[in-house]
This record gives sequence, C-alpha cells and structure tokens, in this order.
Amino acid sequence: MFTFKSFFLTVTIIFCALQKSDSSASFTTKNINVGVVSLRNFGDLIFYGEVSVGTPPQKFNVVFDTGSSNFWVPSTRWPTKTMFRHQKFNAKASKTYFPVPDRHDESIEYEAGALKGNLSRHNLMLGGVMLEAQDFFVGFKPDSHLIEVKFDGILGLALPSLKIAGTKTVLENLVEKNLISQRIFSIRMKTSRKRKRAGDEVQNAGQITFGGLNKRHFRGEHVYVPVLSGTGFWKISMSQIYVGAHDVDVCIPQCFAFVDSGTTDIYGPKEQIKKIYEELGTDKKDFACSEFKKLPAMISFLIGGKRLFINRNNYAYEYTDTKDAKRCALRLVTSDTGTDTWILGMAFMQAIHTVFDFQDFNRPKIGFAEAVP
Ligand SMILES: *[C@@H]1O[C@H](CO)[C@@H](O)[C@H](O)[C@H]1NC(C)=O
Repeated sequence: MFTFKSFFLTVTIIFCALQKSDSSASFTTKNINVGVVSLRNFGDLIFYGEVSVGTPPQKFNVVFDTGSSNFWVPSTRWPTKTMFRHQKFNAKASKTYFPVPDRHDESIEYEAGALKGNLSRHNLMLGGVMLEAQDFFVGFKPDSHLIEVKFDGILGLALPSLKIAGTKTVLENLVEKNLISQRIFSIRMKTSRKRKRAGDEVQNAGQITFGGLNKRHFRGEHVYVPVLSGTGFWKISMSQIYVGAHDVDVCIPQCFAFVDSGTTDIYGPKEQIKKIYEELGTDKKDFACSEFKKLPAMISFLIGGKRLFINRNNYAYEYTDTKDAKRCALRLVTSDTGTDTWILGMAFMQAIHTVFDFQDFNRPKIGFAEAVP
C-alpha cells in the first residue's frame, strides 16, 4: 500500500525543514534470535529504522512497510537533488556479493510513488540478525514523490504473493534461514506527545522486533485474527467502529482492513468516513483547533471480538502551517482509490501494539493489544 497521502497534505510544512539524516545505530544484540530495530518518527508522518546492507555494512533508514513486499535502497545513480540527503548503495564497496539473475529496470510501484530497480543480493543486518544473501533492489529513477521523502528505502513486510516474481522477500529469507526464534514480527509505534513541528525527527519512537515481542510494549493479551487470503496484504475483517460509546454502523455487513505501517492515516470508504465525520461534528478533515478538546476521547475498532481504542491524539492532530499558524485535522480520511477496504495506518498502530505472525505463510494472523503509551 504505502501511501504518502498525509505527507503531501502537510508537505509545505516539511519542505522548509531540510535536515541531514542521522545514522546512529541502535541495535540490540543480546539475544541473537531476536532482531530489534529502533524506530524514528518523522513529523508524525512516517516511522523508519536503520538496517545495513553489504560487507562492510552500509547503513540505510528504511520504512518497514507491511503494505508491500519488496525491499530497495537507493543506488549510486539516485538523484542528488532530493529534498533530504539519502544514503546510496555502493555495490563495488561490498565484499559479500551473491550472484543474482540479471534483473534490471524492474518497476517498483506504490500507491503514491514509483522507481526502477536492479536486483542485487548481499547480506542484510536486521537489528542484530544477520541475514545472508538477501534479495533487494538498488533503486534509481524515483518519481517526483519519492524524491521528497526523508527515508532512504522501503523494506516490505507484506506476504510473499505481493513481491516481484523470482525474488525472495525478507520474511521468506528469515523463514528459510531459520534465524529467529518465532516467525513473527511485532511493531510498537509510540504516540507523540509533543506538538509536531516541521522536520521533527524523534529518536527511539518505537521498535520493530523480528522473532519476538516485548512485554513492556503492550497491556493485556493480544487478540489474534486470521489474515484473509488472496491479496498478499495483511488484510483482516473488522466488525464495527465506535465513536465514543456510539456504534456508527459502518460495517454492514462487515468491513475489511489492511494493517499498514507504511501509511500515516486511517483510510475508509467515502460514505463511511462521512458518517464518522457527522458523529464528530465536522464535514471535512480539517477542523478548528478550538474544537480539538471537544472531540470524543476515544474511537474504537471492533476486531476479533475485542474493542481496540485509539484516542483523540491518535485520530486527530495539530500542526503548524507555513505561516506559523496552528492547524488541526483528522487522521480519518477518505480513500480515493475507490476501494472498500479500510487502511489502518500509523494513526491506529500508535495506539495498538501489533504482532504479525507468519508461522505459516498460508495461514498468517495478526495480534492486537493495547499499546503502552
Ligand atoms: C542496472 O542494470 C543495467 C543493466 O545491467 C545497467 O546498465 C545499469 O547501469 C544498472 N543501473 C544501476 C543504477 O546500477
């Protein structure tokens, strides 16, 4: 999936804040069967973390995207005139090269953004887990959207059927090499407390754990639901949405949702979002900041028989526009792709700790629990 929507809606804020990327490592190597990557939150728009490719390691900040399955980092031919400086993969400098079929000029496309890539294969260091001979693309010719992003690359964590044929995804490689204690990865994205400023990059804003989960990141038990087969996305069924205590009747007879760490907002079908807006007393995404505190404290999603709560600081946000004025907007928005499937992006995942279970690629499941703020 990987939508940049919110990025563009607030893009003018970010444009003025050019900042260099910081590449301090934060790997935990205590337990070799678990790979832990610390996540950074960029302007409350996207989370990314550091991995390294090749030997000696070349570091990249990548989005761990549960809405796509390919992995790419920029090549040395990546444009230099990008909004933020990007790390570029220098294949010649890496001693561990594995032969790959000559697959070049492959198109890698996202909901908003596309690039070309040549297939390559080197070692990948994933939060302390060394994954040998990982397929990835060295990217070039990014479209105008990808030129504007803060991160370097995207590491897809959706199911194998979404990948470019003839390649091996990171999840497949993890399974094949049997490197992690459990075939799961879990994501914690902290809710930001501070007001978002242009170009804010918050360190240690979350964590992705390959092979396990951290008990300090959630409360209670996870409720597990099966992933619906056929799409390659982490797609589940959802039964209802409540605004405060009120059942909004958006899922008649039912709703489907992608759980997508590469998307900022929560997307829903037009008519259903309209119902929620009515409930919230607005008719559009943007609203007067004076109304912020009057918004219902909680919105909840009924999934697997459990109500999962997100608060108003998750589903709405305040930001400063280019003229330094305070603005407010909802993170519940209409998808204009015409799909009826909801997308539960970062706005949802900041409140809900998620566990993606790929023990069996044919029967994956997702667990949800209340995140520790
Ligand atoms: C991609 O592969 C083609 C064919 O081998 C080559 O000419 C081109 O330079 C490569 N591009 C990059 C960015 O490595």
